[in-house]
Amino acid sequence: MTVTWPKDTRAKFGKSLIHASHDLHTREQFTDEGLAQILDDYPREELGIWTFGGHCEGMGTAIKGMAPNASGKEILEAVKRGTFWLNLRKCNEHVGYLEDTADDIFDSLEDATDKRLRKRDMGLLISSPEVHVNYHLDIPLVCLLQLRGEKRIWMYPADEHHAPSAQVEDIVHTRREEDLTFSNAFDDNDEIVDLKPGMAITWPQTAPHRVQNADCVNVSLSCEYMTLPALVQANAIYMNGVLRSKFGVDSVRTKQVTPLNLGKAAMARLVKAAARAGAPKSPSPVEFEIDLSEEACFRPV
Ligand SMILES: [Fe+2]
Repeated sequence: MTVTWPKDTRAKFGKSLIHASHDLHTREQFTDEGLAQILDDYPREELGIWTFGGHCEGMGTAIKGMAPNASGKEILEAVKRGTFWLNLRKCNEHVGYLEDTADDIFDSLEDATDKRLRKRDMGLLISSPEVHVNYHLDIPLVCLLQLRGEKRIWMYPADEHHAPSAQVEDIVHTRREEDLTFSNAFDDNDEIVDLKPGMAITWPQTAPHRVQNADCVNVSLSCEYMTLPALVQANAIYMNGVLRSKFGVDSVRTKQVTPLNLGKAAMARLVKAAARAGAPKSPSPVEFEIDLSEEACFRPV
């Protein structure tokens, strides 16, 4: 077994939350020694380091950091003692020996859904005890696998009420990070999942969620991917953002692959090509550096 998906995965895919089980947490790669090695092998300038201001209504606070000089072992120590959230995006591309793990995951989901999965991006998340990841959404589809520690995820419906289209368009255009405005009233419509090692989930595209770590270091794999309809939707959202910012057109995103969405997606490709859009850059400035000599394991920069 690598990942075992339920028999009804194909029927439920894209419509509701799907739970799976896996045994990836038993791989040597994800012990403390293995994680320190991965952190040393991963390009440091690509390492996403964040701290968050805790759960609240409205927009959460996400503060970006860096660790240009620390060793992998020191960064891991800072995660244990401090309040940090690390994201090693595309670690399947950047760290050669993780490619097989990513292929095992994506291939299992491809078999279970009978869909071709594109833009396969495995992110390794390593985060501190008690960290709360703000209310946000991800534009690609996501399969989240828990390797170490425990965390609670609140999932919310992917609709206009919980994720207004104008905010989602800003995320697609990287005018903002992935955070959304949270209201306590949303908790009337949540679905709570307590993730433990050996558990995995995938959810419908652009479903908002927030995450609370238990009092332990958490290690997870966040596997982002696209299907063809998901790609069409992402490009249609991109085009809606262009239409809104340039012409004031107020469009609401739809999940269906309609002729209109296909047209918008095709236009989005042209607009992106014309803009020569390179790799999207985070709009947040770097505000701290990991520093083990400080009690909170960081210093402002
Ligand atoms: Fe997420």
